[in-house]
Amino acid sequence: MEVFDTLTKFQKVLNKNHTNRTIGCVPTMGALHDGHLSLIKQAKNENDIVVVSIFVNPTQFNNNSDLLNYPKTLEADLALLEQIGCDIVFTPSVLEMYPHGEVSESFNFDGLELEMEGKFRPGHFDGVGTIVKRLLEIVKPTNAYFGEKDYQQLLIIKKMVSELKMPVNIVPCPIFREANGLAMSSRNERLTAENRDEAILIYKCLLNVKSDFKKKTIKELNYEVEAIFKNHPFFDIEYFVIADTQSLKPAKSIKPNLEYRAFIATYAGEVRLIDNIAL
Ligand code: PAF
Repeated sequence: MEVFDTLTKFQKVLNKNHTNRTIGCVPTMGALHDGHLSLIKQAKNENDIVVVSIFVNPTQFNNNSDLLNYPKTLEADLALLEQIGCDIVFTPSVLEMYPHGEVSESFNFDGLELEMEGKFRPGHFDGVGTIVKRLLEIVKPTNAYFGEKDYQQLLIIKKMVSELKMPVNIVPCPIFREANGLAMSSRNERLTAENRDEAILIYKCLLNVKSDFKKKTIKELNYEVEAIFKNHPFFDIEYFVIADTQSLKPAKSIKPNLEYRAFIATYAGEVRLIDNIAL
């Protein structure tokens, strides 16, 4: 496995040794868990070589303490990547990725950025778009892999790639869960053992919504979830939304020709968690 922290060396090796090979790219912010590893395994199966980037992107954090507290475990990450047979790791510095200052580009995501996460994390998706565009331009992968846990991010990246006509296939990967159902996330690291147990309520609640989806109205489902989380001593919910899977607009009623997902974001203690489920 080769590890590069500068653009020039990394691109030199890519251009010299890997032309005419299919490249699978898995962009990450590190603190790798089994969810990331499942993306990397899929990338390995579907491409000649796999490039994983590890970069905690400052422009997608709208909250400085979230950025400062984001887990950084580079040594352990590299050991995991070596073990799993990753070919190349790119671990650039902030200066390398933002030589002209930490500023986001502005994108037209067709309103996708205004829903859910966009309401609570202003500027977040422009930050994600900026860094993913830059990584895709550098790596020039055949396929790039993104998890459905960040479903809104996945749609936004697909939209960006199609608007900019970037020659890359965006591959959605299913949510990977811990044995108790909690969606895997680097932020789970910051939960205490007790908090982790409590946090399984998020998935339980999504499963209830899924099983009641055809039996109840959207209003009733929203009410049910609100009732579970309202005044809960441990959770501070930001949103629960049932939305159609293309526009992400909140559904008022269920239309037979559309597909829906339920989305949730909540603080569990100090830690912000998101999850979603196909209905
Ligand atoms: O999902 C993430 O880890 C990040 O948003 C990404 C796609 C690596 C961009 O920084």
